Amino acid sequence: MDDCNPMPFITFIQPDGSEQVVDADSGASLMAYATRDGVAGIEAECGGQMSCGTCHVHIHPDWQAEVGQAQGFERNMLDWRDNFDEAASRLSCQIILTDAMEGMKVSVPNAD
Ligand code: FES
Repeated sequence: MDDCNPMPFITFIQPDGSEQVVDADSGASLMAYATRDGVAGIEAECGGQMSCGTCHVHIHPDWQAEVGQAQGFERNMLDWRDNFDEAASRLSCQIILTDAMEGMKVSVPNAD
């Protein structure tokens, strides 16, 4: 038996309540797996350069402490997004997954 890393899975919830479960490894961004699996509403137009804001997600309350709130330039970027939520909004390109995030749920805000 090898000691391979556990495979965190993330559930993306669309505005209509539909869910998409995405397998992911720790150490890469949440945005990378969302775009790999074609999660609707995650455009990520800048490819993770924190200049577009089109990778906006809302972190479920159960994982907000683990993920943390947006700070600095990320926070400024989110300020002008529709559906900004002080506690929940993050740019998914700025969230590096950890094993502790396994099972995390994130919502995709309405397109803006
Ligand atoms: Fe552009 Fe995250 S991918 S800000």
